[in-house]
Amino acid sequence: MSSQTNKTVTITDNATGKQVDLPVMHGTDGPDTVDIRSVYKELGYFTFDPGFVSTASCESQITFIDGDEGRLAYRGYPIEQLANHSNFDETCYLLMYGELPNAGQLTEYSANIKQHKSLDSKMQNLFAAFDQNAHPMAMMISAVGALAATHNDDVDVHDAKSRELSMHRLIAKMPILASWCYRHSLNLPFNQPNTDLDYTSDFLSMLFNDSDAPALTPTMVRAMDLILILHADHEQNASTSTVRLSGSSETSPYAALSAGISSLWGPAHGGANEAVIRMLTEIVESGKDLSHYIARAKDKEDRFRLMGFGHRVYKNYDPRAMIIRQICHDLLDEMGEDNPNQPLLKTAMELEKIALEDDYFIQRKLYPNVDFYSGIIFQAMNIPMSLFTVIFALARTVGWLTHWNEMMSDPSNKIGRPRQLYTGHVGKDYSDIENR
Ligand code: CMC
Repeated sequence: MSSQTNKTVTITDNATGKQVDLPVMHGTDGPDTVDIRSVYKELGYFTFDPGFVSTASCESQITFIDGDEGRLAYRGYPIEQLANHSNFDETCYLLMYGELPNAGQLTEYSANIKQHKSLDSKMQNLFAAFDQNAHPMAMMISAVGALAATHNDDVDVHDAKSRELSMHRLIAKMPILASWCYRHSLNLPFNQPNTDLDYTSDFLSMLFNDSDAPALTPTMVRAMDLILILHADHEQNASTSTVRLSGSSETSPYAALSAGISSLWGPAHGGANEAVIRMLTEIVESGKDLSHYIARAKDKEDRFRLMGFGHRVYKNYDPRAMIIRQICHDLLDEMGEDNPNQPLLKTAMELEKIALEDDYFIQRKLYPNVDFYSGIIFQAMNIPMSLFTVIFALARTVGWLTHWNEMMSDPSNKIGRPRQLYTGHVGKDYSDIENR
């Protein structure tokens, strides 16, 4: 919970001399926050902050990021410790319930998820309605929205137990939907879940069983589990804020989640790891030396940038990238020369080396980000590019739902309703069509 400090920030209206003292709120980490709620009532002004550059849209106890220091923590636990010691199932529990589970709690949670691991067979008709080359994110948006049709009647968004049931259902069904997107695009029969497997292994086996994909190895399963842990939440990003805003109208969680998936689809959000593979493909196919692309990345007249380098929030390094770098290297070593993606993966590793040693990148603190490595891992595992963002959505489902649940369990929650600075026409008179 936030606490009031004895600090205030005073805004003075120079036109009227009127002043308002705004209380300063103190969180448990991160900058103090000025409570501006009384500005409109006291001074008659709206505040202006497009893109939420300086605005905390809510109070939250789930995830903390310090971009300057490169810190990320779920429920107070540093991401490095979770990545080294935990797994995705346990991380989901931590995010949802606020604390790490004991053995009994984890067994009960996993059993609950397994119990909901099925899909109405009618859902297969929904997939059949899509072309084979339809983008899997379009299928996901529709499929998750369609779940509302099956389950809406038994969701009471004001009841904690009912919300928990929806969260369990969605977490259980997302890997099935994600695997069906992949299978549909290859015209392969849909695989059903195997509840003897853990969450991540089951997802991978639903993807790859009865296909030409190479047999799964423990390194592949670990790499996927890590990717799911690292993408499980990232506080108030665009898709999470979308889930909160749409959920604030008390809509179905399935509908709110579908809105979040729509937001994630955009290349400025979930699509960067695809951009990494596109760039690497272009480099390999061009046959040009890497130095040519490094020079282009530095050239201010050229719009080309090294995809998978730099980050808007993490200005020191991306802690998630530090974590998956090792497993990415392990996976590539394990695959050796056999992998058909070898030229592309080799280029990626050369690029990483050059950029980490080049002054331009060092001075600007442009380190490889999480998308650089996750894109390479997916490519090495023969996962098609169009499925990258679907896997991100699968991982982020627990984060989205935990934020939704946090918001809905707050009795003071209001529908989200931003205001605007109107700059359009005023006072125009309607004229008949023949006079225009
Ligand atoms: N390649 C070459 N130069 C770069 C790059 C890059 N990838 N990124 C930043 N720079 C330069 C930029 O030109 C500027 O140079 P100067 O100071 O000489 O003008 C300096 O570094 C600072 O860049 P910026 O544009 O102010 O940084 P930003 O915070 O606005 O941009 C970014 C962050 C992620 C949009 C950008 O680094 C970028 O476009 N990276 C490539 C795309 C990418 O990998 N995106 C995924 C980010 S992770 C997503 C997630 O967490 O979900």
